[in-house]
Amino acid sequence: LKNIISIKDFSKKDINEILKSAESLEAVARSKEKSDSLTGKILGMMFYEPSTRTRLSFETAMKRLNGGVIGFAETGASSVTKGENLADTARMVAEYADALVIRHDLEGAARYVSDMVDVPVINAGDGAGQHPTQTLLDLFTMQRIMGKIKGLKVALIGDLKYGRTVHSLSYALGMYGVKMSFVSPDELKMPPGIVHDLNQNNVVAQETSDINEVLDEVDVLYVTRIQKERFPDPEEYSRIKGAYRIDYDLIKGKDLIVMHPLPKMDEIAHEVDHTPYGKYFEQAFYGVPVRMAILESLIKSF
Ligand code: CP
Repeated sequence: LKNIISIKDFSKKDINEILKSAESLEAVARSKEKSDSLTGKILGMMFYEPSTRTRLSFETAMKRLNGGVIGFAETGASSVTKGENLADTARMVAEYADALVIRHDLEGAARYVSDMVDVPVINAGDGAGQHPTQTLLDLFTMQRIMGKIKGLKVALIGDLKYGRTVHSLSYALGMYGVKMSFVSPDELKMPPGIVHDLNQNNVVAQETSDINEVLDEVDVLYVTRIQKERFPDPEEYSRIKGAYRIDYDLIKGKDLIVMHPLPKMDEIAHEVDHTPYGKYFEQAFYGVPVRMAILESLIKSF
C-alpha cells in the first residue's frame, strides 16, 4: 500500500506483514536495540484534532528509526489560523517531508489529502470515520497477549456510532474470523453501513445493550469512550454518558482482558488499571513498534 487511509484497503496478508514486522521491531521500540533504517527521512505531522498517543507514538517510532519529525500538534501554531486551506497546508508539509500523518475532524480528510500530495499519507483518525493504525496496534496487542487473533471472542463496548477505532477494528476482526459482540446504548449502535458491509462478508455480530449478556463468553472487552465532541446535541451526550462502567467487581473471576484505545474517562474504574485485566497502557505502548513497521514499509518502499 502507498497510503494508509482505511483498514478496508488492507488484505489479511498486508496486515499480517505489518504485525510480523512490528514483532521484529519491538526490541528497537523498547530501546534495547538500535536501528538507522530511516536515517535522513522526515515525517510531517498535521494534527487538526488533539492527540496524545497517536502523535507521540508516531514521533517515537520515527525517532527510534533515526528519522526526523516536523509538523503541528495544534492548528493554533500553524497558518491554518490565518485561513490556509487543507490542500495547501498538506502540499506545503509534503514539500518538506517524506510522508504525512494527518488527524482531522472531517471524515474523508486523509483520503482527500492523499489525492493532493505525492508522498505517502497516513490517516491518524478522520472524524468518526476510521483509525487504521490504531486497529493495527489493537490486533498486535491481541496477538501479543492472547497468542492469537483468529478464534477470539471480542466485545466492542460503548460508543459504536461515533467511535472510529471500533469502525476500523470491526472490519479487521471480521477478516480474522473473530466472534464479535457489539454492546452499546440503542442511540450509539454500530452504523448500519458497517453492519451491512460485515454481513456481506458473512460476518455477523451479536448486538445488545446489556453487557451482562457477553461477560461470561468473551476473551476481550474492548471498551470505548462516549465521544462527547461528536454529539450534535450536548443534552443527548449528558443522557447517555455513564451508560457503562467496567469495575473490578464486574470482571472479577472472568477469563478476559480489558482493552481501550484511550483516553478513558469513567467507563473503566481506576482500580482495574492495577489488575492483570487492564491491558490498555501496554496496548498504547505497542503503538510504537506497529507504527515503526508502518513507517518503514511506506517510506522505504516509496
Ligand atoms: N487512541 C488514540 O487515538 O489516542 P489519542 O487520541 O491520544 O491519539
